[in-house]
Amino acid sequence: MQILDGTLVSAHIKEQIKQDVIDWQAAGGKKPHLAAILVGNNPASEAYVGSKVKSCESLGFDSTLLRFGPEITEQELVDEVNKLNADDAVDGILVQLPLPRHISSDLIINTISPEKDVDGFHPISQGKMMLGQPTFLPATPYGIMLLLEHYGINIDGMHCVVIGRSNIVGTPMTILLSRNTNPGNATVTLCHSRTKNLKELALQADLIVAAIGKPFFVTADMVKPGAIVIDVGINRIDDATKKSGSRLVGDVDYDNVAPLCSYITPVPKGVGPMTICGLMKNTLQAAKQKAVKG
Ligand code: GUN
Repeated sequence: MQILDGTLVSAHIKEQIKQDVIDWQAAGGKKPHLAAILVGNNPASEAYVGSKVKSCESLGFDSTLLRFGPEITEQELVDEVNKLNADDAVDGILVQLPLPRHISSDLIINTISPEKDVDGFHPISQGKMMLGQPTFLPATPYGIMLLLEHYGINIDGMHCVVIGRSNIVGTPMTILLSRNTNPGNATVTLCHSRTKNLKELALQADLIVAAIGKPFFVTADMVKPGAIVIDVGINRIDDATKKSGSRLVGDVDYDNVAPLCSYITPVPKGVGPMTICGLMKNTLQAAKQKAVKG
């Protein structure tokens, strides 16, 4: 069993991005600039946005973090996104999800200019991705593809089972895995909460992507020996042995599943750092594209 080390691979990719930014600036380009919007005070969202901003600093990007209280209205948030759309200094815009219930995430995502949609959530980005046209890929599925690529894992012809059908992970993942690219060319089954024979399907998988948001959902009796397991889950569970009283676990029962696998991602230090890589690569790309278009 080999661990797919997201921290190691992301450090490697970040070095490349850093050098790319230096070269870009030496050629007269300006620093890429990511603007992040954080609404409310969800501790997980705070942590995610914090590490995205920190990554910007370490890569030589500019960043702006706009924080709003949970009482901000939908229209006010639309106005804030439009301000960033119009701001020439900003290359990429990220609105951290989830948003408070009174705000439509679809409306806010649809408001982001597709040229600045570095999360790849806008319908134009997702539509282009589906058609195989160049675009910003959603950061987590993009990061997973980068991880597979880094380890030279050939998934051509494999049966991949994706568990979870969210717009930001499960659904786009099925498209990237099945595209005629390398890595790609897999046969994909998408499982979700209504799937009847999920265990049976998972057992047929050469590669499982677990993105259902339920701790320990994928158990050893669901995994074929030799399978590759990618764990997207980030779940906080109580743990009295920890000083904080809790710890992070994925969607996979890691201790029992790992010995069966050919490759597996840990949580933390697996997919999480790769998501940030995807976002940073998209932001650099946005800055370069903007410079070309003027
Ligand atoms: N919430 C959970 N994952 C993500 C992500 O990749 N981007 C944003 N903006 N919000 C998220």
